This record gives sequence, structure tokens and C-alpha cells, in this order.
Amino acid sequence: MAFLSWHERFSVGHAELDQQHVRLFELVNHFDDVIRMGMHEELPRIVDDLIDLSEAHFRFEEGLLQGIGFPQAVDHRKMHDELLDQVRKMRSNMAAGGHVTHKAVVRFLADWLTNHILREDRDYKPYLAP
Ligand SMILES: [Fe+2]
Ligand SMILES: [Fe+2]
Repeated sequence: MAFLSWHERFSVGHAELDQQHVRLFELVNHFDDVIRMGMHEELPRIVDDLIDLSEAHFRFEEGLLQGIGFPQAVDHRKMHDELLDQVRKMRSNMAAGGHVTHKAVVRFLADWLTNHILREDRDYKPYLAP
């Protein structure tokens, strides 16, 4: 069973943004699957992909929020930058072979993603309404 399941409550009411969020969920699930399969050497590359995909998603979302005149667009961008810092830090810890367990990484990634989508991304939902 997938580690993270997409649910309608995650929807921000914008097809393209939802699709990008689903793709990020899928990558976290893939990370979890790869741990279960014991293919640990694949894990750093998956986190790199997640960083790239998050960055592309965040920039897309920021452009859209600016375009619709979302009042907290600047703050939202700062949250994204902070999220990227967190995940990059975790990636460096992995590279350093530190004390992070793979299970702890997957839990971190799941919280990292769902907290932002369920809380902060929800704030712009009313502004996207047609
Ligand atoms: Fe988002
Ligand atoms: Fe966001």
C-alpha cells in the first residue's frame, strides 16, 4: 500500500497544481517503496528528483499566485524557500552518512509535503475560484 494516499481534501481546486502535488506525493511513495525493496543506493537520487520537482512546482505556483494578485504571495514564496532549505539540509545529512534513518527521512518528507499542501497552500484556494 502506498505510504501517502491522495485525497480530495488535498485539492486546491486547480487541475495543474493538483497534478503537480500528486506527482510530489508519488515521488515520496516511490522513496518509501525503494526502502522496502532494499535499494538504498537509489535513495539520494530520488531526493534530488524531489528537490528539482519541488523547486519547479514552487516557482510555477509563485508565478500563478502573483498573477492572480494573492495578497500573501511574497510570504508564500518565503515559505517555499524555507521548505527547500529544509529538504536540502536533510539531503546533505544523508550525503554525510549522518544519523538519519531512511524511515525518518520518509516521515520527514511526508510531513514536509502534506503540511504545506494542507495548510499554507489552502490559503490561496479561495483566490483561485472562478
Ligand atoms: Fe504547492
Ligand atoms: Fe505552496
